[in-house]
Amino acid sequence: MDLCHAVQTRKNYVFKKGEKFPVSFGSPVFLLLYSLFLTLVFSCYMLHFSFSSFLKFTNKEDYSAPPTNSLHISDQSQPADYKTSDCDLFNGSWVAEQKGNSLYYTNLSCPTIPYSKNCMLNGRPDEEFMQWRWKPEECRLPRFNAKTFLTFVKGKTMAFIGDSLARNHMESLLCLLSSEESPTDMYKDVEDKFRTWLFRHHNFTLMVLRTEFLVFATERIINGSFTGGFDLHLDKLNGNWTQHLPNIDYAIFSDGHWFLRPNYLYENGNLIGCVYCGEAGVQDLGPGYAIRRAFQAAFNYINKCVECSGIVVLLRTFSAGQFEQGAWNEGGLCNRTRPFTREEVKIGDQDWEFRSIQIEEIERAKEDGEKIGNMFELMDVTRAMLMRPDGHPGAYWGNKWMKGYSDCIHWCLPGPIDTWNEFLLEILRKKLPTFH
Ligand SMILES: *[C@@H]1O[C@H](CO)[C@@H](O)[C@H](O)[C@H]1NC(C)=O
Ligand SMILES: *[C@@H]1O[C@H](CO)[C@@H](O)[C@H](O)[C@H]1NC(C)=O
Ligand SMILES: *[C@@H]1O[C@H](CO)[C@@H](O)[C@H](O)[C@H]1NC(C)=O
Ligand SMILES: *[C@@H]1O[C@H](CO)[C@@H](O)[C@H](O)[C@H]1NC(C)=O
Ligand SMILES: *[C@@H]1O[C@H](CO)[C@@H](O)[C@H](O)[C@H]1NC(C)=O
Ligand SMILES: *[C@@H]1O[C@H](CO)[C@@H](O)[C@H](O)[C@H]1NC(C)=O
Repeated sequence: MDLCHAVQTRKNYVFKKGEKFPVSFGSPVFLLLYSLFLTLVFSCYMLHFSFSSFLKFTNKEDYSAPPTNSLHISDQSQPADYKTSDCDLFNGSWVAEQKGNSLYYTNLSCPTIPYSKNCMLNGRPDEEFMQWRWKPEECRLPRFNAKTFLTFVKGKTMAFIGDSLARNHMESLLCLLSSEESPTDMYKDVEDKFRTWLFRHHNFTLMVLRTEFLVFATERIINGSFTGGFDLHLDKLNGNWTQHLPNIDYAIFSDGHWFLRPNYLYENGNLIGCVYCGEAGVQDLGPGYAIRRAFQAAFNYINKCVECSGIVVLLRTFSAGQFEQGAWNEGGLCNRTRPFTREEVKIGDQDWEFRSIQIEEIERAKEDGEKIGNMFELMDVTRAMLMRPDGHPGAYWGNKWMKGYSDCIHWCLPGPIDTWNEFLLEILRKKLPTFH
């Protein structure tokens, strides 16, 4: 799972088919720790799905109509703002759209789709996964409108702050906006972790700031080998992203997957525990603890930062990995071609815990931030995305170093992740007029 991220950032991790561990994890101790970690982590993913509950869509009629147990059919006559003020955007289901209606862009119209997300280029045979729209129970989620979006953000800077899924989200937005204006590539660091695009006519700056943990972290090196685990300083943020905050008007935070590694946790410079280290005398505090502390640190910093005053902060909740029939390195795959219905999706487990923690932390930050003119809002994608096991690149991510492995974490472009930007626009539309 999260080694998919590693592969994208560190090409020196080499996996061979049937091999359980990256070759750099040489020592017996780390093999042991790592196997423990893998067992814990990946069993969580496997537990999410019982393989008997496959959807049974067999013919065209089934496809052109929404699943019978989905509660609403998208009603175009309904005004976009119908009950939106009190509608829960995140409680809903996926409904089928007429073929051709749902696509905002293709791999031809959007030149910035990265190779690993260009599922059609990489040979994905089915196209139905691009033809579903999110339908909240009590209202309609308006379609994304690039013109409207660019009007909202004219003269502003927006940053996606987090791991490779934050990047995936930004890549979707780039494509959605490119129908209105081609972005100019302004900046890219050597590792391609920090990237800046400019929509010149709208004077809109779009950034991605890669930070796997938000907090200051260094990879543990034992006897000269990278271990894949990190030392996390939970009370100290990574300055590489915080230095940009004063220039940012809209910040969209996310993170989670990297916290599932065997990490060691520090506060005040002292070791206070670990996550999945399996070491006698070091308390395993669990990934949830570290996630909570990291978001707390980030949001507390923002609410104390004088130059950041007036910032709009969104938290995009955890988007779970969805390997089935095994862990990522045991032939685990994600080859479904239909969404889950509300009844089929399995909610709970660790993904749900991470989401709850993130919601608690954004609520806490909101209370503090409102007093000083900051806005904090939730973008709760966890349930909607758990319903989309069909939206991942799976085998079609074109990674020649990892042939035979599936990517069941990131999302195809175009695909269900475009919905995150429909949420984003709708949140801005609803909340900005009441802000300031
Ligand atoms: C979602 O909406 C349905 C229908 O309005 C309601 O019964 C259900 O309680 C809601 N679920 C949540 C989690 O709010
Ligand atoms: C776009 O997708 C099609 C399949 O739908 C594929 O044949 C083509 O090579 C892709 N083109 C690009 C530029 O990605
Ligand atoms: C673009 O936006 C920035 C930040 O709001 C502002 O300082 C600058 O003057 C704007 N430039 C133009 C050409 O409007
Ligand atoms: C590091 O190397 C030393 C000397 O080769 C060895 O004794 C020690 O066990 C190694 N430590 C780990 C954690 O593998
Ligand atoms: C910050 O960025 C620099 C340059 O890319 C990198 O060398 C350094 O490790 C980063 N610092 C942290 C704490 O991630
Ligand atoms: C997914 O792959 C498994 C194993 O190769 C296969 O048994 C199953 O039929 C596939 N499912 C779909 C929907 O293609």
